[in-house]
Amino acid sequence: MAANVLVIGSGGREHALCWKLAQSAKVKQVYVAPGNVGITSMSKVEKVHLDLKNYQAIGEWSKKNNISLVVVGPEDPLANGLVDVLSEFGLNCFGPKKAAAQIEADKNWSKAFMDRHEIPTARWKSFQSASDAKKFILSAPYPALVVKASGLAAGKGVVVARTKEEACEAVDAIATDRKYGTAGETVVVEELLQGEEVSVLAFVSGGTVRVMLPAQDHKRLKDNDQGPNTGGMGAYCPCPIISKKELDEVRREVLQRAADGLVKEKIPFTGVLYAGMMLTKDGPRTLEFNCRFGDPETQVILPLLESDLYEVMLDCSKGQLEKQNLKWKEGIFAVGVVMASKGYPESSTKGNVITGLDEVSLLPDHIVFHSGTAIQSTGDGAPAFVTNGGRVLIAVALAADLALSAARAHAACSRIIFDGAQFRADIAHKSIARAILEGGKLTYKASGVDIVAGDTLVNTIKPAIKLTHRPGSVGSIGGFGGLFDVKAASYKDPLLVSGTDGVGTKLKGVRLLKCLVYTMVMIMTWLDLLWVLWKRIKCFL
Ligand code: AMP
Ligand code: GLY
Repeated sequence: MAANVLVIGSGGREHALCWKLAQSAKVKQVYVAPGNVGITSMSKVEKVHLDLKNYQAIGEWSKKNNISLVVVGPEDPLANGLVDVLSEFGLNCFGPKKAAAQIEADKNWSKAFMDRHEIPTARWKSFQSASDAKKFILSAPYPALVVKASGLAAGKGVVVARTKEEACEAVDAIATDRKYGTAGETVVVEELLQGEEVSVLAFVSGGTVRVMLPAQDHKRLKDNDQGPNTGGMGAYCPCPIISKKELDEVRREVLQRAADGLVKEKIPFTGVLYAGMMLTKDGPRTLEFNCRFGDPETQVILPLLESDLYEVMLDCSKGQLEKQNLKWKEGIFAVGVVMASKGYPESSTKGNVITGLDEVSLLPDHIVFHSGTAIQSTGDGAPAFVTNGGRVLIAVALAADLALSAARAHAACSRIIFDGAQFRADIAHKSIARAILEGGKLTYKASGVDIVAGDTLVNTIKPAIKLTHRPGSVGSIGGFGGLFDVKAASYKDPLLVSGTDGVGTKLKGVRLLKCLVYTMVMIMTWLDLLWVLWKRIKCFL
């Protein structure tokens, strides 16, 4: 039976979710609330006007419209209990209930949960009093430099300080000045971890975990991880920075332990559990859990998924995830480069006309997912896409090579033009060398050197070379240098001479060789003639 799906959300993540769900043969119609103009310009996708604060009304509408599955994109409605309400209507929901969504929404709870279930994470302490937090920062037995508002703060409530003074200032901003409102009622002070960050997302249904390909986000605005933090300026997948061994460790010791822990605490999880990991020299450590798909990770993960997303999500929501084994496009990389409007992340610009979108969307293996766009009629009355938010869109390119997909995604951004556009030119760059090495492409053989053939030749000529050995020869063929011991060759007071030939010597040599060849040819010709003459004379005798 053809299904109707409702997706809640309006960003690039939800565009990617709708794009993938609409590809399912089992899906007749995807409804999106509130969506964006990029999402609703796809076929099989329709915008629906719903009051997203009225969960009861969403449930009633979904029942009336035979919605087979509700997919909740962002964390806020999950943390506020949307799934709890929709479940009362008997709807299948992809996303956790409020109690399980705490794993993202309450960092204090989440850290204590990690400790209860021995999930590797940074050392920490939480405080309700700013002065206690500051005392701890100054006396902690580890660099307690990361200060977090415990509640949801739209991804902005974390300060990674460089000094203890800066960390104390962050405590004041979060706990005393309430920069993030009630989210800062409790502050978490955490040990500063060092390493590379990787996002490992998994479909989770109770105790069943299906891990997705690892991805890496780029949080800073500017190249080389400089500039202010943002919602994410680009991502790529799979991320070769995390080894197979580390990924398996994250699956077992982070995601599986979390899923089992939530079951044990009677708040089983349904949906995507996102583990933000730091790969430290002591092993992977959990920075945070999110209770939803990541943005912009989703935009590079889903284009690589071969499995039917609708089937996976439906089985997940029905507690039948064990039926699913995820299938991925083999040997393909996806790189996504975010284009942001002028002023982002402090502010954003609206109404700037965007050109080049059609051109890029027509390119094979290129996808543009929208987040902050709108449609406006231009001077000549024709409708055009315009900017309508901070992060405007993400250009994703797929290729069998990470360097190529990165180059294509960046080139796509150069073709999409709008006033004040900002995008990074180095998305995925730190992984390109590793991807080449891991893909087995940077080998002697690929560079034209056949080591096996070389070794065979050396072994073949070894006996002949051995015959040339004389006293004084040191070592044997196969090394990268040669030595000759003059004393062992019985020289008493040797004088070693080396000469450098110029072109002149060689010309003389060539001329000498030429003369010799001519002389030989002449002699042979004369001998030949003499032979012919002798044969004739013999006939007369
Ligand atoms: P969170 O929302 O907890 O993931 O924090 C946001 C960002 O802050 C992470 O993606 C990291 O870049 C950084 N961060 C969080 N916790 C730590 C930590 N303990 N050590 C170093 N950086 C951290
Ligand atoms: N990419 C970071 C997040 O989705 O929270």
